[in-house]
Amino acid sequence: MTRNRPLGALPVPILAAPMAGGPSTPELVIAVAEAGGFGFLAGGYATVDSLAEQVGRVRARTDRFGVNLFVPNRRPMDADTFRAYAEALVPEAEALGVGIDPEPVDDDDLWTAKLEWLLDHPVPVVSLTFGLPDAAEVAALHAVGTAVLASVTTPEEGRSAAELGVDGLVVQGPGAGGHSAGHDPRRLPSPVDGAELVRRVVDGVGLPVIAAGGVDGPGAIRALLDAGAEAVAIGTLLLRSEEAGTAPAHRRALADPRFEETVVTHCFTGRPARALRNGFIERHGAQAPFAYPAVHHLTRPIRRAAAAAEDPERLHLWAGTGYRSAEERPAGEIVRDLAAALRRG
Ligand SMILES: Cc1cc2nc3c(=O)[nH]c(=O)nc-3n(C[C@H](O)[C@H](O)[C@H](O)COP(=O)(O)O)c2cc1C
Repeated sequence: MTRNRPLGALPVPILAAPMAGGPSTPELVIAVAEAGGFGFLAGGYATVDSLAEQVGRVRARTDRFGVNLFVPNRRPMDADTFRAYAEALVPEAEALGVGIDPEPVDDDDLWTAKLEWLLDHPVPVVSLTFGLPDAAEVAALHAVGTAVLASVTTPEEGRSAAELGVDGLVVQGPGAGGHSAGHDPRRLPSPVDGAELVRRVVDGVGLPVIAAGGVDGPGAIRALLDAGAEAVAIGTLLLRSEEAGTAPAHRRALADPRFEETVVTHCFTGRPARALRNGFIERHGAQAPFAYPAVHHLTRPIRRAAAAAEDPERLHLWAGTGYRSAEERPAGEIVRDLAAALRRG
């Protein structure tokens, strides 16, 4: 294990950010690693069998990869507010011909089972989001040779992670697509400049930092590296790449001028996430409770049906602020071009 450089020596300081729910695929991870970067598989929402199968395919081609997991981080939920939200969503479900279950569903995203599998089949790096594990879980991963990265959105979260003995931090700025990595699931990301946030965490915590969030090209990567990041993770820039498993309606929406901006909303999952503003957000953004994962389970049939029907107005169109720069090209080309532009300065 390399405690000072958790990702090892990287020819290209660019990572494929983990993107659960379809976009991250073994092919995407391999393409980015083979272009000289580093790839993350998304363990979130996956079953243990699916995670095992994906790790197997990546491991056969590269060791420049990691696995990302959601740390369970539940908060008390008001059942009446949840039921009122479920009621408000009935017309959305009816429009797509599906039913929704108004009873709140809770789970830990198979945290224990996935962690056990990763201890039995160690991977080079495990990154964590939504919260922090126990120090004993970090130590167990270290004992099998796995480096551990914790995702943080503030210097305070970085200091809490450092106390657990993690090897590095993924510092996610507020422009990031998808869920905020914040440890308080009810807190919206603070509107701080991403490079300034990296600087504060680098100075205040002293662990290696991978920066992420709002990257729209080489200039943004350069600013994050100059702020002290060892490497930069890109998510949105890869969503339209050939190897990504992004739903067709999501892919098209990213390039559709009808979608004019991104907003942070918790109406799809009960946890703040940045997405293209669409009809579902307009109708429900103000009413949704902060109740993850109950709201995730509640809206899932609607989102699945919307994806199948290619209805972008009822789909969670996760996107970072750099979405206009997401191109439909092979991921390896995207990473190589960014790296070449970085080298030119
Ligand atoms: C579709 C999508 C899914 C995501 N899923 C995850 C995830 O499973 N785990 C995680 O730590 N971050 C997840 N993120 C956040 C990314 O890892 C990363 O922080 C973000 O994409 C960086 O910002 P950018 O999209 O502006 O490049 C997701 C982002 C997107 C766009």
